[in-house]
Amino acid sequence: MTNTTMAKLIDGRTVAERVYAGLRRDIAELKARGVTPGLAVILVGDNPASRAYVRSKDKMCHELGLHSVKLELPASITQSELLARVEEFNRDSTIHGILVQSPPPEHIDEAAIVRGLDPRKDVDGFHPENVAKLVLEDASGFVPCTPIGVQRLLLESGIEINGAHVVVLGRSMIVGKPLALLLMQKNKNGNATVTVVHSRSRNLAQITRSADIVVAAIGRAEFLKSDHIRDGAVVIDVGINRVEDAANARGYRLVGDVAFEQVSKKASVITPVPGGVGPMTIAMLMANTLKAARQSLA
Ligand code: GUN
Repeated sequence: MTNTTMAKLIDGRTVAERVYAGLRRDIAELKARGVTPGLAVILVGDNPASRAYVRSKDKMCHELGLHSVKLELPASITQSELLARVEEFNRDSTIHGILVQSPPPEHIDEAAIVRGLDPRKDVDGFHPENVAKLVLEDASGFVPCTPIGVQRLLLESGIEINGAHVVVLGRSMIVGKPLALLLMQKNKNGNATVTVVHSRSRNLAQITRSADIVVAAIGRAEFLKSDHIRDGAVVIDVGINRVEDAANARGYRLVGDVAFEQVSKKASVITPVPGGVGPMTIAMLMANTLKAARQSLA
């Protein structure tokens, strides 16, 4: 039997607004204790998508009254010059969180830059010490923003993660792997049965069809089709892909990793792109920055 009704849409902007209401209270409390949380965002080169993300992070800091430093560096910068800029922020007591926008230019060794971050300021959660804390379920660490954003979106939408079969499509360091670790953690916001599938998985559709919740983070426009899910599944779309569209004033439009039109007819709940996971990612970056500021007081 096919479900012909449209799935319920999760509005990420509304959920993010709820998160911000809480953050505003926390910020006021920190400021009353004499601390303004500060975030430094480093952008290397001029990737247009990265530039847009960095701009929205900076804008959100201003809206919340956080100290924000946006450092734009030329694509020609050397590894050691970039590392030196990171180290300056490590030493800067007005900065609690540091983020180097990914991906950097080809000649930059991103992993080495990440290792150069003070792990206490690594609000992206990419430093090996924070990755280890995620594995060890040590809550003092930082978890990457998109995975915690996905978890929060599910919880705030009343979707039970505890005991559910979650299939994560994609194994990236930024989304797939940390999300799998987070949702399998031994606590009431986790406890999922997690399967990770990726571009090389055999029987991919058979596996995704057994999921209660499918999270698409494979980085391919409209990859997940209705044949990939069971009737009534929950579908979370992490993808942001630019596809050419001459009819659009910008020359492109944004689509997710989910073929929204067909999948939304079969799913029970779905996130749109844009306006689903994206707003949550920025909200979680702000939350991680507050956490870093709070932990710096201890
Ligand atoms: N590029 C895409 N997503 C992210 C992210 O979460 N953090 C950083 N630093 N770069 C990104």
